[in-house]
This record gives sequence, C-alpha cells and structure tokens, in this order.
Amino acid sequence: MSFLARTLSQFITRSGTTASTLLTKPHNVSALALRLSSTQQSGNEQKKYDYLLVDVKGKDSNIALVQLNRPKALNALCDGLMKELSSVLESLDRDEKIGCIVLTGSTRAFAAGADIREMQNNTLPQVVGGGFLDQWSAVSKIKKPIIAAVNGFALGGGCELSMMCDIIYAGEEAEFGQPEIIIGTIPGAGGTQRLPRYVGKSKAMEMVLTGNRIKAKEAYQIGLVSAVFPANQLVDEAIKTAEKIASHSRIVVQLAKEAVNAAFETTLAEGNRFEKRLFHTTFGLADRKEGMTAFVEKRKPNFTGQ
Ligand code: CAA
Repeated sequence: MSFLARTLSQFITRSGTTASTLLTKPHNVSALALRLSSTQQSGNEQKKYDYLLVDVKGKDSNIALVQLNRPKALNALCDGLMKELSSVLESLDRDEKIGCIVLTGSTRAFAAGADIREMQNNTLPQVVGGGFLDQWSAVSKIKKPIIAAVNGFALGGGCELSMMCDIIYAGEEAEFGQPEIIIGTIPGAGGTQRLPRYVGKSKAMEMVLTGNRIKAKEAYQIGLVSAVFPANQLVDEAIKTAEKIASHSRIVVQLAKEAVNAAFETTLAEGNRFEKRLFHTTFGLADRKEGMTAFVEKRKPNFTGQ
C-alpha cells in the first residue's frame, strides 16, 4: 500500500475503539476525573492518574486539557509520568469528541526535564538495552493538534516535550532551556534536532552548549513560541485557539498537521509534492465540498469529519 493510501486509510477507517469522555465535574481540574472507555478500560470505570490531571474544556466540550501534575519535582518527567502521558494522549487521539489537546503544567513549571534522580545511576547497557526515552516519541505521533501552554520552567526534556507539540504558547514568566550539558549529558528527546529547526543553528548551539535559559519574550522573538500571555490567562488563551482549530473539519486539520510536519522531514520539492497530494485528497472529502459550498452560500459550514 502506498504511503498516501496508508495515510488515508488510517484516517478513514479509524474504528470502533472510540472513547467517550464523560466528566463528573467538567470545569474543575482539581476534581478531575476523565472517564475513557478506551480499549484499556472496561465500561465507564473512572480513571485517576498518578501524574496527570485531565479535563474536558470548551463550549462544545471538545478540548482536552492535560495538566502535568508532579509539583514536588517541578513536573520532572519520570518514566511513570511519560507512560501515563503517552497512554492518555493516544486515548484522546481516538476520542471522536475531542478536536484539539492543550498540554500544560503548573505556574512554576511546565516540566524541569527528565527525572535526574531516576536516571542518575543508569548504565550504558541499561539505557541502550532498555531503549531509554524511546517511548517519549509517542507524543510526536499524535494525529490531533496539541498546544503546549508553558508557564514556568521548560527545561531539558520539558523544552523537548513542548517542541513535540504543534503550537507553543508561553506565560510571561516562562523559561526555556536545554541545560543537560551542565549535568554531563546532552539532550536526548529531540532537543538537538528540533531546537535548530525552530530557532536556527547559532541560537540552538548557544543554548545547548552553555545550558543557558531564555525567557518567554526572547523565545517569542526567536520563533520558539508563537505568543506570550500573562501567566493567569495562558491556558484560557490556549483553549480559545484550540476551540478555533476544533471548529474546522477534523480530517482536514489532521491532513494540515501532517503536511506542515512533513516540512521538517523532507526536501522542498518532495514536501511540495506531498502537500499537493494531500490537497488533492481533500477533494475526496465531503467536508471540502461542504466548506466551499458554505462559503458560496454565505453560511457557516457544518463539518462531519467525512
Ligand atoms: N529531575 C528530578 N528532580 C528535579 C528535577 C529534575 N529534572 N528538577 C527539579 N527537581 C526537583 C529538585 O530535586 C527539588 O526536589 P527536592 O525538593 O526533593 O530537593 C525540587 O524539584 C525543586 O527543585 P529546586 O529546589 O532545584 O528548585 P529551584 O527553584 O531552586 O530550581 C530549577 C529550579 C532551575 C528548575 C532546578 O531544579 C534545575 O535546574 N532542575 C534541573 C533542570 C535540568 O537539568 N533538566 C534537564 C534534565 S536532563 C534531560 O531532560 C534529558 C533529556 O533530554 C530528556
């Protein structure tokens, strides 16, 4: 099967593993309990997480807010947290009600990196044999858009996690950095690869080789984040953007995300060819017809995801 056909069949045949999200208190993150009737759970059994708070937001209840919740360690990304995060994001990706995901941390820290205590005594054979950090890449394979809403520290793996998302918004006090060099190692979850793609070689080298942190304003100036907001407005602003994205055709949003991401993986000629094929593909969708017809008829489109 060609890549395009495989891509399309993934979109079109997404099947009966759909999760329904039922909330006991939809707008209370602290009382969070997201019920995911995914393949991992039976019936409507309520799932509580060790390291996450998960809530549904937006006037159409179609935005998932995932909050990293390990405050004592500044949301250091231990193995348990990353396993939970991957599993929740994959469930949300299958959830037909959810159109966009917002990932955030606390006011003090988005995440202060991989858990240094946990990896302190790891040996080379252990990390090679066990594929240390391999499972983190699950985040970058999620098909729905993810907006990182970063307050406080986004360091090491925290900065890398934000860069695995599709849009980064920052609170005014946010600080980004790749400080691994200070503790005798290098970034291991994409920092040396994604950071230069965001900010160019010189700035990425400076950050990776010195371990220096940059503040939100500079992160905005160099293109790492697309907007900066007062800390207490950040998550609401991210949800607003998420709602706008979720109002569009789900399948077309997915194609658009895939097309933009292809720009990081291929040549300009190949990327343009891939984009053209995906663009052509939209002409096989009812949502493309509906969007253009609604424009011509001067009304709002009614997208069905078909
Ligand atoms: N891992 C484990 N614990 C961490 C942590 C981390 N990455 N970052 C912070 N913590 C813990 C601290 O140990 C401390 O715990 P205790 O109270 O039990 O001692 C608690 O969080 C609060 O931290 P501090 O007392 O240090 O708080 P601070 O305000 O003085 O400093 C900080 C904040 C600048 C973020 C500092 O904690 C720090 O430098 N953290 C480490 C940042 C770092 O090096 N990140 C990269 C990790 S390696 C990596 O991520 C590899 C990769 O590519 C995936």
